[in-house]
Amino acid sequence: TRNGIEFAVADLSLAAAGRTQIRLAEHEMPGLMATRREFADAQPLRGARIAGSLHMTVQTAVLIETLVALGAEVRWVSCNIFSTQDEAAAAVVVGPHGTVDAPTGTPVFAWKGETLAEYWWCTDQLFDFGDGLGPNMIVDDGGDATLLVHKGVEFEAAGRVPQPTSADSEEFALVLGTLADSLAKDNRRFTKLAAGIRGVTEETTNGVKRLYKLAESGELLFPAINVNDSVTKSKFDNTYGIRHSLLDGINRATDVMLAGKLAVVCGYGDVGKGAAEALRGMGARVVVTEIDPICALQAAMHGLPVVRLEDVVATADLFITTTGNKDIIMAADLAAMKHNAIVGNVGHFDNEIDMAGLAKVPGIVKNEIKPQVHEWTFPDGHAIIVLSEGRLLNLGNATGHPSFVMSNSFTNQTIAQIELFTKPDAYERQVYRLPKHLDEKVAALHLEALGVRLTELTKEQAEYIGVDVAGPYKPEHYRY
Ligand code: NAI
Repeated sequence: TRNGIEFAVADLSLAAAGRTQIRLAEHEMPGLMATRREFADAQPLRGARIAGSLHMTVQTAVLIETLVALGAEVRWVSCNIFSTQDEAAAAVVVGPHGTVDAPTGTPVFAWKGETLAEYWWCTDQLFDFGDGLGPNMIVDDGGDATLLVHKGVEFEAAGRVPQPTSADSEEFALVLGTLADSLAKDNRRFTKLAAGIRGVTEETTNGVKRLYKLAESGELLFPAINVNDSVTKSKFDNTYGIRHSLLDGINRATDVMLAGKLAVVCGYGDVGKGAAEALRGMGARVVVTEIDPICALQAAMHGLPVVRLEDVVATADLFITTTGNKDIIMAADLAAMKHNAIVGNVGHFDNEIDMAGLAKVPGIVKNEIKPQVHEWTFPDGHAIIVLSEGRLLNLGNATGHPSFVMSNSFTNQTIAQIELFTKPDAYERQVYRLPKHLDEKVAALHLEALGVRLTELTKEQAEYIGVDVAGPYKPEHYRY
């Protein structure tokens, strides 16, 4: 605590460096800045206590300061152990008007290179706003903050936290440990917290999947807005964001020449499409794996061979997983790769690549080339290079997506927070998407910066195609 502000960041003196980056990012985030201007007087988030778990980057700093500018009190953690930009975390704590000695910003608990135990400790810090108050809103990316609340309520109802078994991952065992500590102190803590939460707005595909599962089984404890499936999120951030930040991550990690190399992209959804396009743009020979015939056909129509991993495992130079699924590249696949093949993941969780299995290969040796870049040498002498220990490499090895695309995502986040916070009675314990007119509004806020001149419909044309002159311009089922 300094000047009454709690925080746990790498180095507060990095704040000045973070602030210059935030200032430049603000210029590249026209949607967020327009939202600040639009709601400056109304202060729709006054009274909101927002717990945010989302990569603590420069772009996220602009989101946090937008939520604060609209009246919210905020606490923040990163949703990944490697994704924090330490200078951004420091700048958010110090705040735009504070100093290192007298910070006046927002509590942040995040640093680059947390252990998993530290990660869950940080996540737990989200829920105490002082004076016995918890958050009344959550911003989540991947659903870990929401998971902690739901598991907490489940175990409080049962009166006990189960002992981790050998089948549990190391990470889940840590979640259970965090909850056991909490339960020992207050056996109604999460039950009380959950009752005060008006809703969660979720950023990514994997977190959204968790929410729909909870809603289907009737276990969802508060309303949720699926930000990911705003068109101006998943069709932009997931695709064009990764098209930028995947290469950034590979280059910073390895600086390997991609032209002419054989690259495998596992999954051809929104993220896979961006990944494949970026690698092809660098002159790599790109092949795709898919389980969905529609996405496989799309890849084929884009001229990309669709193969099975086994067809290329021994010949490819680079492997990128983008599926949001588990067990995509197993230890036996890693062993079958050629010398110095590069392996990385940009799907949300680290179980796409069997890192646990790799570590258990008898005689394997792990050598750190630099942080988040590891050479794993098999007993036969050949090695592979794994980026960010199998976690999101575009955030672990680089700084994630650029500001402009994140402005689209985070304008959706801000609108969704305002929506759930100001209309608590309008939503059930279900998962909702933002209405299309707001999706179109987010896009509209980003046109001027790119010099776009939109054509205006005439009244006659609008009637002819059956829409309003002011939009929405597409039916709900349109796919873009
Ligand atoms: P998506 O559902 O559009 O695409 C995933 C694709 O993987 C689907 O087409 C699916 O059929 C395919 N797939 C599933 N199992 C497979 C298997 N065994 N082999 C081959 N393909 C398989 O999802 P989206 O939006 O592309 O997201 C993918 C992941 O990326 C999610 O975990 C999401 O949370 C994450 N994400 C990461 C970002 C980053 O900055 N690194 C940004 C946005 C999303």
